[in-house]
Amino acid sequence: MNFKLKNIPSQKGRVAIITGANNGIGFETTLAMAKYGFKTIMACRNLAKAEKAKAAILEKIQNADLDILQLDLSDFKSVETFAENFKNKYDRLDILINNAGVLIYSGKKNKAGIELQFATNHLGHFLLTNLLLEKMPDNSASRIVALSSLAHKEAEIYFDDLNCEEIEDKGAAYGQSKLANLIFADELNRRLKKRNKKIIALAVHPGGSDSGLFDEMSKIKYYTFKILSPFILHSNASAAKPSLFAALSPEVKGGEYFGPQGFMEFRGKVGVAKRSNYSKREDVAIKLWQLSEEMTSQTFL
Ligand SMILES: NC(=O)c1ccc[n+]([C@@H]2O[C@H](COP(=O)([O-])OP(=O)(O)OC[C@H]3O[C@@H](n4cnc5c(N)ncnc54)[C@H](OP(=O)(O)O)[C@@H]3O)[C@@H](O)[C@H]2O)c1
Repeated sequence: MNFKLKNIPSQKGRVAIITGANNGIGFETTLAMAKYGFKTIMACRNLAKAEKAKAAILEKIQNADLDILQLDLSDFKSVETFAENFKNKYDRLDILINNAGVLIYSGKKNKAGIELQFATNHLGHFLLTNLLLEKMPDNSASRIVALSSLAHKEAEIYFDDLNCEEIEDKGAAYGQSKLANLIFADELNRRLKKRNKKIIALAVHPGGSDSGLFDEMSKIKYYTFKILSPFILHSNASAAKPSLFAALSPEVKGGEYFGPQGFMEFRGKVGVAKRSNYSKREDVAIKLWQLSEEMTSQTFL
């Protein structure tokens, strides 16, 4: 791959949305996008945290062109309001990075009774993306980037137990949500292609980084993680590189999946990532799409 993030020309005039822009990988992604000259919309659920993150970016890049719009992905009304607010304010959307995510072990649900990780990580982004598509110029520089995870490999979409109440493994629901992110990117890309659209949807995983994602782990796991992470994981800035590559490289194609290539795919240079056979199943992708439409009470594409 010849593409180098440091050689990106100014992106002034182009508009990007990053969900979960205030922390971890999303913060680093936003910082980089602002540096490249994007008008960057920080889609965050907590406005105070978002303002703090914006101020931190402005300290590093004085002319960063940032805007904050409130978004709670677990609440479909909030997603619809965000989309309306964005559409009223902006004429175009060039890059959508569906970065926000939660990792919990509690079985917590959203207001509608849907397991919180499936609701936030998948359904919220499914709805958001489809509501915003009409604002994307029809060219291959228009990108939708989904953040999946190594955790997708162990998972399935548990159609008969979406809330994962019958499954013992407490991590199953997170894996399911991250698998859904990957499958959604593929299916969206296929549907765009069928309609002769040039917009590209693709997925990445960031490897591993010590972000806020692991704050809900049990104390023992959390402290073990804190001790080991500097040796096996990479920084949030490095973990943002697959997202930036997918959003900006002219070398990528729709439906591709990128991630770090080093030790256990936890860190390293960006390249084509490994994925489970299950994640490639088109029958599952179609079923997930239909189910997502039903659960968000909308029909798309
Ligand atoms: N770090 C890793 O090792 C790793 C590995 C694999 C995949 N990932 C994926 O990378 C992405 C970024 O995660 P991260 O590691 O940077 O974690 P993080 O530091 O916890 O950041 C997650 C971001 O998502 C936001 N968010 C959570 N729930 C939301 C909701 N309902 N509505 C809107 N925003 C919400 C958070 O907002 P608040 O600050 O308000 O909570 C935060 O800004 C996630 O999709 C995650 O699954 C991370």
